[in-house]
Amino acid sequence: MKPRILEAARALKKAHHAVAVTGAGASVESGIPDFRSPNGIWETYPPDRYATIEAFLDDPDRVWQMWFDLGAMLGDVLPNPGHHALAELEAMGHLHAIITQNIDNLHQAAGNRRVIEYHGNARRMRCLDCDAGTALDLARHTGSAPHCVACGGIMKPDVVLFGEIIPELAMTESELLVRRCDFVLIVGTSATVYPAAGIPATAKQHGAFVVECNVEETDFTCSITDIFIQGKCGETLPLLAQAMREL
Ligand code: APR
Repeated sequence: MKPRILEAARALKKAHHAVAVTGAGASVESGIPDFRSPNGIWETYPPDRYATIEAFLDDPDRVWQMWFDLGAMLGDVLPNPGHHALAELEAMGHLHAIITQNIDNLHQAAGNRRVIEYHGNARRMRCLDCDAGTALDLARHTGSAPHCVACGGIMKPDVVLFGEIIPELAMTESELLVRRCDFVLIVGTSATVYPAAGIPATAKQHGAFVVECNVEETDFTCSITDIFIQGKCGETLPLLAQAMREL
């Protein structure tokens, strides 16, 4: 067992309000590319043309085409061992909640019950005019932007695009969690997009112990991270869960 994982497990064992903050790296081993690594999503779909609210309003069909393309991938993905390890940590009472930037629903599919969707969820869409929400099965949709059955307005995937605000409930819940948390487990995020990237730093300011799982160092690693566990989270998180079982 890696010494750092044992050290992280001992710190987690002492924690009373541990919170995980996850990013796209948590889902890479489920087959979903992340955004900024080589061959990431933004290489194929530049965010200024596909991921801003301005781009969406300018050409909804173009932005929807990216979601339809991703839908073919999102449709049949499954949680990976890293997701299951986080669900096990919650079930063991060692993880209070997950604040995720991911929109793939894989934490919920793995069994985590307290998941705050900081950037929304791609399994829902919402009308830009009347705000009516409905389920979205991306694999079933093709062609142009869907329209609202209630008012005929254009529907948008219920995810936070650049230039949009974080859903109020997600923001409020996250702020409350971060104030109380004494342990932050950062999983698979490049720490580049705010306000999400500010969450671990705020927790640190409130005295939290910070463990970071990533295949490479980030801006967090040399600033707020107490223990950096380098590796694929589909491999390192199950080792953390195993260490917790054995403590
Ligand atoms: N295990 C652990 N970490 C991994 C793995 C893996 N198997 N694969 C990749 N990573 C790491 C990468 O090294 C990188 O640091 O995950 C991180 C992914 O970073 P990004 O692609 O920037 O994704 P994320 O941090 O979630 O982006 C934040 O930006 O594009 C917006 O709204 C989008 O929610 C997203 C936000």
